[in-house]
Amino acid sequence: MARNEFLDLLKSEIKRIDDSHTAKRGEMIIDGYTSDANPKAIIGSKKYTVFNSNDYLGLRHHPKLKQTEAEASEKFGTGPGAVRFISGTLRVHKELESEIAKFHSRDDAIVFSSAFAANLATLFCLTKGQSKVSLVNSDVLVVSDELNHRSIIDGIRLANLAPEQKAIFKHLNYGDLDRVLSENVGKFARVVLVTDGVFSMLGELQNIAKINTIIKKYDAKYSQGILLVVDDCHGVGACGKTGRGCEEIFNSKADLLIGTLGKAFGADGGYVTGSQVLIDYLRESAATYIYSNSISPGTAGAALAAITLLKHTEGKALLKKLEENVTYFKEKVKVAHLELAADSAHPIQPLLIGDGERTKKLKSAMFKEGFLITNINYPIVPQKRDEIRVQISATHTFEEIDLLVKYFKTQFGK
Ligand SMILES: Cc1ncc(COP(=O)(O)O)c(C=O)c1O
Repeated sequence: MARNEFLDLLKSEIKRIDDSHTAKRGEMIIDGYTSDANPKAIIGSKKYTVFNSNDYLGLRHHPKLKQTEAEASEKFGTGPGAVRFISGTLRVHKELESEIAKFHSRDDAIVFSSAFAANLATLFCLTKGQSKVSLVNSDVLVVSDELNHRSIIDGIRLANLAPEQKAIFKHLNYGDLDRVLSENVGKFARVVLVTDGVFSMLGELQNIAKINTIIKKYDAKYSQGILLVVDDCHGVGACGKTGRGCEEIFNSKADLLIGTLGKAFGADGGYVTGSQVLIDYLRESAATYIYSNSISPGTAGAALAAITLLKHTEGKALLKKLEENVTYFKEKVKVAHLELAADSAHPIQPLLIGDGERTKKLKSAMFKEGFLITNINYPIVPQKRDEIRVQISATHTFEEIDLLVKYFKTQFGK
């Protein structure tokens, strides 16, 4: 059959990936979690301490989230039944959006099935041609940090902009951002400036205050101004004294803030929050919202419980414990003379190993010792910067952190 020729092409691509040892599809299967306050992953008959999860506060195992999830499923059913504008808008979705908006002090919020879907739609809708509201595609310049998340890159790709409409500034380099904005004055009516808040490979933070200072300098020089979009998926719920992420750390705000409910909030789904006009526009134009189901009612219920919890004493105590654990880990690493690839205050802590094969061996050795950690290799990080990414959670005990660092030291020395 003629199609076999195409399937053979796919087979050779899979072989290429396998031969380069970058295949992802042999994922580790977790059989469940222990039910104590500090859950361990169960794989076969063995228990593992999890140091590679984005569940920074341990909320996905929290009894309150599980209870609220069950209650919402009981009330609304297990799925939304339809996309939002047909009959899939449930009271729990509206309550969640309202709480997200309040949490981030915005007018409104819109929930998507994932933050990936939120980014695709947001970048596409803000940059595509839209003659009905006289936003002409060629009027826009998109300015992006060079290490932005794949979902941002794909959202920009979808908009099919001319090459000169896409500018990249060097990672976390504010001088370079200034250069890009200065060089493009007079060439475009408006700028959409987009960046990750927390960069997930090294736990680095984008300084939103510095970005806003530069925006202030150039905003009036573009007739339709500069719009700042920040994807703070790893920041929301995980950093800042009250879990408001990078905006809280730098005391500075984006026009549109994108977050996920699937990391620190312990649920699933993504959101965008901002002024009424921006959220209304997304609700009218975001295809991944209009033509795709929203999160299940149970998931929305769990996310609501997470936000409520964060606003109260328990959430604040969890955030404090998370910060203490990060500080404790960094101290222990220093004492053990291990090196970090970046000085991060975020629960993402990258241990610099420098060699691809060594990171893989270390990961396997640590697995045998009962730890789940992740190796990050070239080309995701630059050559000779291969790392073990450790992710700290509020549920970790100091004893677990001690053990992790101790075993690391032993294995690293081998
Ligand atoms: C910066 C960033 N944006 C977006 C996403 C996608 O989040 P979600 O899993 O909700 O689609 C991730 C997740 O890896 C992320 O790190």
